[in-house]
Amino acid sequence: MTSPASMLLTSDLLQVIDLSATEITQLFGIASRLKTDYRPFAGSLAQRSLVMLFEKPSLRTRVSFELGFQKLGGGVVFLDHQSSPIGGRETVEDYAHNLSRWADVIAIRCRSHELLARFAAASSVPVINALSDLHHPCQALADIFTLVESGIRPEELHLAWVGDGNNVCLSLIEAVATLGGRMTVITPTACRPAADALRIADARAFRSGARIVCTDDLAAVAGADAIYTDVWVSMGEESRAAEKTAMLTPYRVDAALMRRAGAKTRFMHCLPAKRGEEVAAEVIDSPASIVFDQAENRMHIQNALMLALLRSDLAPQDRPAPSVAAHP
Ligand code: CP
Ligand code: NVA
Repeated sequence: MTSPASMLLTSDLLQVIDLSATEITQLFGIASRLKTDYRPFAGSLAQRSLVMLFEKPSLRTRVSFELGFQKLGGGVVFLDHQSSPIGGRETVEDYAHNLSRWADVIAIRCRSHELLARFAAASSVPVINALSDLHHPCQALADIFTLVESGIRPEELHLAWVGDGNNVCLSLIEAVATLGGRMTVITPTACRPAADALRIADARAFRSGARIVCTDDLAAVAGADAIYTDVWVSMGEESRAAEKTAMLTPYRVDAALMRRAGAKTRFMHCLPAKRGEEVAAEVIDSPASIVFDQAENRMHIQNALMLALLRSDLAPQDRPAPSVAAHP
C-alpha cells in the first residue's frame, strides 16, 4: 500500500520490524482494552471488509481473523488458495488491484514472502502477513502481549527459543529486538535463522538494548521466563521431514529441560503442536503451558492492528495509556 492513513507509520504488516516499539506498545494497549470489553468497539469496523487469501491450512489464524473482524462489525471473505497458488490465474499485481477496489484490508498466508511483498506493493489497501515462509508477525505480537499481560516487562523478558529457527522464531526475534528484551535462540547450527535476517534484527537490538544470542547449547535455557518451541517441519517443508527430525530430536522440550530452565518458566507454542516430537505431552499439558492464552490473544492483537490500520480517527488520546515502557 502507498498512502498511509492510520496511526501506524507502516501501511502494511509484513514483518514485525515494520512497527516501532512505541507502535507495538500502543497495539498492546488497544488489545488489552478489547480483551476486557468489546462493547465500546462494536461497529467500529462496520461497512469494512476483510479479504483473506490462504495458500496453507489454518485453524487459529483463520478463525481469529474472521471472528475478530466480525466482532468489530465488519464482513469477511475467505479465499482458499491451497490448490491454486496466488498469481496462478492472473498476475499477483492484477489480483491486488482488483481486491483493492472492494476490500479495506487483506490478510495473506502464503508460501513465499517475496510474493507477499509484491502483493503489498501493488495493493492500495493494507496487507497483513498471516504467515509466510519467513515471518509470522501476528503470532509474535500475540505472544509478547501474552507475556506482558502476565506481568513481564518486555525489556526484562528472557525468552528461550528451542528447536527450528523458523518463521515464528524470526518474528519473535524481531519483536524482542524492537522492544529491548533478551532472546536466546537454541537450535542446531544448521537450523539457525538466516544470517541476513539476524543482522537486521541486530540493528534494531542495538537501538533498544535487546540481546539476541544464538547457540546450540540447551543449558542456555537457564533462568528463561519462557521456553518456546514450534513444529520441526513447517508447512511446505515436508520433503525435509526426515533430515530435520534427525537434527532436532535432541531439542525436544521435555520436563527435564523445563526443570533446567527454572520453576517459574512457562511453556509456549504457536500451535499446532506434535506431542512426542518437539514437545512432550507432560509439558504442553502442564500448568506451565500458556499455549491457549497465546491462541486467544491472536484475535485481540489482530483486531488492535486492524483498528490501528483502518481507524485513524481512533487517535492515541482515545486509547488507554500503555502499561509497558516503550523505546522510541
Ligand atoms: N499458530 C497458527 O498460526 O495457527 P494456524 O496455522 O492454525 O493458523
Ligand atoms: N512454523 C509453522 C508455524 C505454524 C503456525 C509453519 O510455518 O508451519
